[in-house]
Amino acid sequence: MKLKDIYKFILDEGEKNDPRPAKERHKYPDTAVLHGDPDKIIYNIMVGIDIGAAEVIIGDRVRIGGKKIDLILSHHPLGTAEANYASAMHMQADLLQLIGFNGKMADKLNNPDIERIQRNLYLANHNKVVDATRILNIPLICAHTPIDNLTWSFLNKHVAPAEKLGDIIDVLRKIPEYRHAEKIGLPPAIINGGQNDKVGKFWLDMTGGNPLPYGAVKKMKNMGIDTIIAMHLFEKTAETLKRSEINYIVCGHMASDSLGLNLFLDRLLQRSKLSVTPCGGFHRVSERI
Ligand SMILES: [Fe+2]
Repeated sequence: MKLKDIYKFILDEGEKNDPRPAKERHKYPDTAVLHGDPDKIIYNIMVGIDIGAAEVIIGDRVRIGGKKIDLILSHHPLGTAEANYASAMHMQADLLQLIGFNGKMADKLNNPDIERIQRNLYLANHNKVVDATRILNIPLICAHTPIDNLTWSFLNKHVAPAEKLGDIIDVLRKIPEYRHAEKIGLPPAIINGGQNDKVGKFWLDMTGGNPLPYGAVKKMKNMGIDTIIAMHLFEKTAETLKRSEINYIVCGHMASDSLGLNLFLDRLLQRSKLSVTPCGGFHRVSERI
C-alpha cells in the first residue's frame, strides 16, 4: 500500500467513526504526512503512541539490524500537525453541542483550553522529531483525532449495555488493551461514584483533540449526563468532581490510544499485508474476544 493511501485510509476511518453528524465534520488538522514520498510503497510500519527522536533512532537501529521499517506512525501530533493542534480542539465544542450546550456556551467553555494550548505551542520544539526522520530518511505520519474516533465508536457500542459502574469496569476488563494496562499497573478505575451506582446517561470523553474542559464537566450533570467515561483526568477536573454528583470512570490514556491504533491497524491489515513493530507506549493486540 502506498504511503498516501495509508494516509487517506486514516482520514476515511476517522470520518466513518466521527461522533459528529456528517455535515459538521471537517478535516483533521492534528493528522498529517510529515516526511516521505507519498508514492512510496509501505510494507513495514513502526507504530507508537508517542514518537520522539529516541523512537526514530530505535527504528533506524532496527533497520541496521536487518528488519525493514518503511514508515513510522505516531499517534500524538508532531511537526505541522502539532502546530495545528489547537485548531483541532474546536471539535470538542462540536461534541459539547451534542450533549446539549448551545454553540455560544460550547465555545465559551472550550476556548480557554484552545487559547492555553495555542500559547504553549510557542514554547514547543515541535519539528524536532520530523528533523530526525528527515536526516535518517524514514517516512513519518501522525494520526491523532481519527484514531481517537475509532476508540470512541468502539467503546460507545460496547459500554452501552452496562447498567452499573461496575459493569463498565467488567466490559473494559474484557478488552485486551485494558487487560494489559491492568497487568502493567494501571487498570481502569472509578474515580467518582460506587460500583453499584447506576450508569444512567453516559458520555465518552475519548476524542475531540483534548479532554472535556473542566467547566463543562461542572455543568454536565445539569445537562442530563450521569456518567463520564474518559481516557484520563486533569487536576482541575478532579477538583470539580469533588463538588459534583457526576460519576467518572478513567480508562487510561495509553490503553485507550492503543485500542484506537489496534482497531485501525486491524482494518488496514485487511487491505494490505503489512508488518507492525509496536513502540512508544503502544501495545499491539489483534485478537478480540
Ligand atoms: Fe492520546
